[in-house]
Amino acid sequence: MFAAVRTRTIARTSLLRAARPVYKTLGSGTHAGLFSRYYHKPARSTAFKVLTEGDLRHFKSILPAETILATPEIGGTADPIELDGFNADWLNKYRGNSQLVLRPKTTKEVSEILKYCNDQGIAVVPQGGNTGLVGGSVPVHDEVVLSLRNMNKIRSYDELSGILVCDAGCVLEELGNYVGERDHIMPLDLGAKGSCHIGGNVAANAGGIRFLRYGTLHGSVLGLEVVLPDGTVLDNMSTLRKDNTGYDLKQLFIGSEGTLGIITGVSIATPRKPSSVNVAVLGVPSYEKVQQAFKLARRRCGEILSAYEFWDASCMGAVLKHHDLKSPLSSDFPFYVLIETSGSNKDHDDEKLGALLEELMEEGIVEDGALAQDETQISRMWSMREGIPESLGKTGATYKYDVSIPIPVLYDVVGDIAARLEKASLFKPEEQPGSDHPVKLVCGYGHIGDGNLHLNIVAERFEDRVTNIFEPFVYEWVASHRGSISAEHGVGLMKRDYLGYSKSPEMIDYMRRIKNLFDPKGILNPYKVV
Ligand code: FAD
Ligand code: MLT
Ligand code: ZN
Repeated sequence: MFAAVRTRTIARTSLLRAARPVYKTLGSGTHAGLFSRYYHKPARSTAFKVLTEGDLRHFKSILPAETILATPEIGGTADPIELDGFNADWLNKYRGNSQLVLRPKTTKEVSEILKYCNDQGIAVVPQGGNTGLVGGSVPVHDEVVLSLRNMNKIRSYDELSGILVCDAGCVLEELGNYVGERDHIMPLDLGAKGSCHIGGNVAANAGGIRFLRYGTLHGSVLGLEVVLPDGTVLDNMSTLRKDNTGYDLKQLFIGSEGTLGIITGVSIATPRKPSSVNVAVLGVPSYEKVQQAFKLARRRCGEILSAYEFWDASCMGAVLKHHDLKSPLSSDFPFYVLIETSGSNKDHDDEKLGALLEELMEEGIVEDGALAQDETQISRMWSMREGIPESLGKTGATYKYDVSIPIPVLYDVVGDIAARLEKASLFKPEEQPGSDHPVKLVCGYGHIGDGNLHLNIVAERFEDRVTNIFEPFVYEWVASHRGSISAEHGVGLMKRDYLGYSKSPEMIDYMRRIKNLFDPKGILNPYKVV
C-alpha cells in the first residue's frame, strides 16, 4: 500500500537550476533556420530609433561601465555571444537581435535610462530571470534589454507581519531561503525558482504550485515601485494589508508583462512556514478518477490541502528518462497525482491524510501510492513534478499551451489534439522515440486543483505542418469551453494575435487605451500582449 519512497536522486533545487538550456551560437546552420521559421515575427516598427554610438556614449555617462554590454555594431566591445543568453528565451524558441544590454543597479538609473529612451524613441524590453514561456522576455528585433539582475537587495523584512520589501531582481529561491530562515515561506513557488526574479514573477503574474493555498499575486503583493516609460518613479511601496484610497494602481502592473512600466521594487506578504508538511504520489487509472480523488481530498483534507498536481504517463516517461529519479510506485499508471498537505499539527495532519489515502485505495479511486517519510523524499516527489518541463525540453522542440478549462473536460483537449495529429499521420501514440513521425509526445500535466492544464506537444522541430494541426484549433477549443488561453504564463509574443479568444473587443480596446496612457510612444516591450 502506501510505502516510503525509495531513496536516491538529486536535490530539487540543483535539478531546477540546471534547467536552463545552453545557448548555441546563431548564424550557423540549423539553429538559424529553426528560429526564423517557426513563429510569426512582426515587422520592426520604423518608429523606433536604430541605436548609434552616440546613444552608447550617453548610457556610459549615466551607468557604471560594468553594467553595460554592447556589441561592436554600436561601438561596444562585447562579443555578440555574450548577449546570446539575453536574446534567446528559455525554450530556445524566440530570439531577438539586441546589440545592447543594460543592467542598472538603482531605481534612479532605471529612471534615467527610460527617460532617455522615451525621448529618443528607443524600444526597451525589461528582463528578469528570462524564464518566461511566451516569448515576452526577449527582444523581437533590436530593442535594448534592460535586465534587473543587478537590483537584488532585500530592503526590509518585518518578522511580525511577514512583510518583505525587496528589489525586483531578487531571485525567488533566494528570497525563499531568506524568509525560510525566519520561519516564513514565499506565497508562490515554481519550477524556475532558481533563476526567476520576484519582479518577473509579478510582471508575469505567475501562478505555480502554491496557488491552491495562497492564491494570486494580486492578493499577496502589497506594493510596487514602478518606473514609467517617461522616467517617472511611481512609489506605491505600501506595506499595508488594507488600503482603500481609491484606484489600486499596482494591480495594473501585476501581469502587465513589462508593457506598462518597469517594476523595481516589490512589497509582498509572506505566510508563516507550516510546521507539518506531507506529500504523497498516487497512481490513478483514469482522468475520471483523478477528479474523484480531488473531490475527496477537498472533502476530507480541505483546510490542510496545499497542492494537488497531476501529470500523465507520457510526462512520467520523459521525467524518468531524463532525470536521475525513480518512480516511488510499484508499476506504471495512466495518471499520477501529487497531494501536499500543510498545517500546524503533525498528528492531526497525518491522521487526516492517512484516512484519505486509505479511503482512496478502498474505493478503488487510486491503485497505488507512496507517502514521503522525510524532507528528502518530499523534495524528490516534487522534483518529479517540477522536472517535467525540462525533461520535455530534452525530448525535443516543445510547443506549450497553458490553459484554464473547467476541470471535468480539462484533459479532453490532450486526446483531441493527439487524434488530429494521428489523423494527419504526424504522430503515433505509444511509438518509441526515433520513429518516423515528427511528433514525439502529446501530453498533459499541471495544477489541476486550479483548473490549469499544461498541454505540451513535443516534436522533432518547430515546423508549420505540425503547428497548423493545432493552431488555432487549440485556442478555438479553449474558447468553446469558456476557458482562458493563458492561465498563468501570460500573453507575450506567442498569444498576442490570439487574445480575442479570451477577451472581448471592448476589453482589448480598453487594454490598448491603458497601454497608451502609460506608454504613449509604445517603447516598452513592443510587439507583445496588445
Ligand atoms: P522574465 O522571463 O524575465 O520576464 C517575464 C515577463 O515579465 C516578460 O514580459 C518581461 O518583459 C517582464 N518583466 C520581467 N521583469 C520585469 C520587471 N522587473 N518589470 C517589468 N517587467 C518585467 N509560470 C507560472 O506561472 N507557474 C509555474 O509553475 C511556472 N513554472 C515554470 C517552470 C519552469 C521550468 C520555467 C522555465 C518557467 C516556469 N514558469 C511558470 C514561467 C514563469 O512566467 C516564469 O518562470 C516567471 O514568472 C518569470 O520570471 P522571470 O524573472 O524569469 O521573468
Ligand atoms: C509548470 O507548472 O511546470 C510550469 O508552468 C512550466 C510549464 O508549463 O512547463
Ligand atoms: Zn504551471
